[in-house]
This record gives sequence, C-alpha cells and structure tokens, in this order.
Amino acid sequence: MSGPQPGTGGKARFDDIYDQPDPRAYFRRLAPLEYEIPQQAQAAFRRAAAEREGGTVLDLCCSYGINAALLNHDVTLAELYARYTDPALSELTPAELAVRDKEFFAARRRPDAAPVIGLDVAAHALRYAREVGLLDDAFAENLEKGEGEDATPSPRLRAAMAGVGLITLTGGGSYLTRRTFAALLPWARRPLRISAFVLRTVPYRPIEECLAAHGLRTFSDPSRTYPQRLFTDAGEQRFAVEAVRALGADPEGRETEGRFHTVLYESVPERS
Ligand SMILES: C[S@@+](CC[C@H](N)C(=O)[O-])C[C@H]1O[C@@H](n2cnc3c(N)ncnc32)[C@H](O)[C@@H]1O
Repeated sequence: MSGPQPGTGGKARFDDIYDQPDPRAYFRRLAPLEYEIPQQAQAAFRRAAAEREGGTVLDLCCSYGINAALLNHDVTLAELYARYTDPALSELTPAELAVRDKEFFAARRRPDAAPVIGLDVAAHALRYAREVGLLDDAFAENLEKGEGEDATPSPRLRAAMAGVGLITLTGGGSYLTRRTFAALLPWARRPLRISAFVLRTVPYRPIEECLAAHGLRTFSDPSRTYPQRLFTDAGEQRFAVEAVRALGADPEGRETEGRFHTVLYESVPERS
C-alpha cells in the first residue's frame, strides 16, 4: 500500500510489518508499543460468537489471523508476543515456523472453535494464517478502492458472505470506511452481528448508517473505552487528542495519558 489512507491522518503507519511471510516482525514492532486491542477484544468476540445464529466469523483486517487465534484457542496475546519475539524461534525460516505454529495452535484448539474466514489486503499474511490453520478461508481484497461506486467483492467472497453470521474488527477502523461494509452487506444471507473495536479518532457514524440501511442496529457505550496501544511520539498523541475532541469526545484521562483508545460497536439485526 502507498499514499495516504482515509482516516489515518497523523497516525503512524506500519505498512512494512503488515505483509511479511510470518508474524514475527509484526509482534516485534508492536511489542514496545504495547499493542493490546486483540486481547481487549477476546472476551467480547467469544461472547458474540456464542450469541451468533450460526454461520462463519469474518474477521476484517485479519492480518496473520490474530483474532482467530484468540477466539478459537486457549492462548493469550501475551503468549503470542512471547512466542514471536522468542530468540529461540528467530532463526527459523517462515516455513519452519509455520510447521511449529500449526502444532502450537492445534494443541490449543478449543472444542467450541468457530469457522473463521479473513479479509485483508495483505496476501502474505493471509497465506500464513491459512497455512497454520487459523483461517478456513482468506480473501486478499481491497474494498476501499476506487472512486464513486462501491467496490464489488470477488465471486468467491460474495459466496462466502452468504454464510457469515458474525463480522469482527480490531486495528482496522482507521483503514476501513463504510465502503467496505457497503460492498459486503448486500451479499449477507444469514442473521448477522458485527463487533468492531474502533479508535476514538475516527467517526463510526457513516458505517452505522450503512449498517442501518441493511437492517442492523448498532449499540455502543462511549463511557467504556478499551486501550489499543501507546502513541509512537508526541506528534501522534497531539493528533489523537485533537481528533477525539473534534468528534465530540473527551480525551482527558485517556488519550492524554499516552494511549489510543477504542469504543466497541456492536450491531445486531433489527427485529420488527
Ligand atoms: C493494525 S493491523 C490489525 C491486525 C489485527 N486485526 C490486529 O488487531 O492485530 C491493520 C490491518 O489492516 C489491513 N488493511 C489495511 N487497509 C485495508 C483494507 N482497505 N482492507 C482490508 N484490510 C486492510 C492491513 O493490511 C493490516 O493487516
């Protein structure tokens, strides 16, 4: 990816770690920033998965399958940080690491594991997630692309959408707009829930409106926030504090303390 992305504004970019052959660079780079939103989301996604009316889970901006790992396996994000920053594993080739990871996750698979598919623009990351068994299917598609009309998902993704009962999102709220949802939702065929952790620096309203047009009602509790990560520097913090204020929220005690914070938006079918 290159060039500015909608909504990323003054936020640091991490494009170089998003599409590697394995997740080690991702975890090494994000460890000092204490990136923690997948762990914050684990309980909420397990609850949403248990409450879904069947169907697969679609993780948007799924990267190396981290939310799928935390949803379906007895594992914590701290254990994944420890694993992927372990000097004992640093000499392995991506293929060797994949073999070990496959065993690692298989040994921790939960009996109530849900089928998970993923959408991301990072084809290498997706390949890894598929190879180690975290994702049942993966789609390297960018539904944000183009001007004017909404993008059309590939025929394969359209067919997969028909089976989706839950959409999850962490760490992607500043990359995705209503366009991705507007492209996907027309192909849903089952009762659908959406659980999205979105930074307070980006507006969710346009997505909420798009979901409402597809019969989904969104709930959130703005007084409850979930930390995402430390700011990279004072400039990023200034950007975040200003962006949160511009959207009518109060950064005091949250972004002013040094971290990005998210709100959980949960959408469910409007029952008449
Ligand atoms: C911060 S990572 C989040 C990964 C994972 N969900 C997590 O929380 O650890 C952001 C991800 O969004 C993906 N991404 C960026 N733009 C995208 C787009 N237009 N469509 C789908 N994925 C995108 C990136 O490739 C990257 O994998």
